[in-house]
Amino acid sequence: SAAEKGGYEHFMAKEIMEQPKAFRETVFPRIHEGRVALDELTVTREYLEGLDKVCIIACGSSYHVGMAAKYTLERLLRKNVEVTLASEFRYCDPIVTHRTLALVISQSGETIDTLAALREARRLGARVLSIVNVVGSTIARESDDVLYTWAGPEIAVATTKAYSTQLALVYLIGLCFADLLGTIGRAEYDEIVAELLRIPAKLESILEHREDVQYFASIYFNHPSIFFIGRNIDYAVGMEGSLKLKEISYIHSEAYAAGELKHGTISLIEPGTLVVALASYGKLYEKLMSNVVEVKSRGADVLGLTTRTHAEAMAKTVDHVIAVPDTHPMLLPTLDVVPMQLFAYYVALMRGCDIDKPRNLAKSVTVE
Ligand code: G6P
Repeated sequence: SAAEKGGYEHFMAKEIMEQPKAFRETVFPRIHEGRVALDELTVTREYLEGLDKVCIIACGSSYHVGMAAKYTLERLLRKNVEVTLASEFRYCDPIVTHRTLALVISQSGETIDTLAALREARRLGARVLSIVNVVGSTIARESDDVLYTWAGPEIAVATTKAYSTQLALVYLIGLCFADLLGTIGRAEYDEIVAELLRIPAKLESILEHREDVQYFASIYFNHPSIFFIGRNIDYAVGMEGSLKLKEISYIHSEAYAAGELKHGTISLIEPGTLVVALASYGKLYEKLMSNVVEVKSRGADVLGLTTRTHAEAMAKTVDHVIAVPDTHPMLLPTLDVVPMQLFAYYVALMRGCDIDKPRNLAKSVTVE
């Protein structure tokens, strides 16, 4: 009913709009006087020092959180982080020992492949830390430690607020472990914590400007095929943007690490192809823009996503720019993903798709 949807036309719209609140509820109670306190965890410094790697295991959008988490956790912890699709994990003879931490990410806590992979990781000796939304779910019960995303029930098949809160917990885990390991300096720690506290307000400001994204969707909703390009964390967000679009609008799309374009995909770029260029990561802004120039010169329409810092410059090269507020570079995916969700939503809306229940998809996949 309309009441259940909080006045919105779809659960997906409601859940997109709930993200500032979901982020706040997931993060704020776990920060005390400027320090991350994950009281739920039993992990010790000795354990972390003995770790040789972190294996992230997940499916779908949760896997995309894992892709972003790899960049973040490797940078913070200086440990190897592998990200494996749960459906592949069991069948790839994974190298897992008691010195492996399995980080399992799942909204529902019931995805069968993720659960099976968790069991396999444990059998091989790993300790399991899971990030789960549904309290008391099977994955939560079978993990050594659980951190809950306090996103509340997610009804739309295409996940939004679960993605952002999973990412939020990755940051908290990264900060907490880096602090225990001594791999982060005080100044950077303080800066990231301060920025985490500012994220909900920044999310709100993005959501206030959602009509800009709706306008871009109205221009591009009939494109038969869309490419998302990015580097580093922008690539990780591009994968999620592409998946959201495919799931609910049924438009074929692909996410590409921008540097890989010339190894194949660029042959598909022709006049009128839409490329969504994610260029929020300042360090690689120029590198990404060189790829944008390549696709522009082949006639692509380019919708850019960047921070306010680079918005004006980017607008000179691309057709339209969506700007998100600046933040610590590590936290950019939490902001970047929102315009991507909105874009998918509005495109699907204009195409008349069944947004909350896309064809052939289930909210939770409990059969292999
Ligand atoms: C399904 C859903 C996706 C979700 C994936 C993993 O495919 O449609 O939105 O990302 O399962 O689900 P989980 O509950 O394990 O995060």
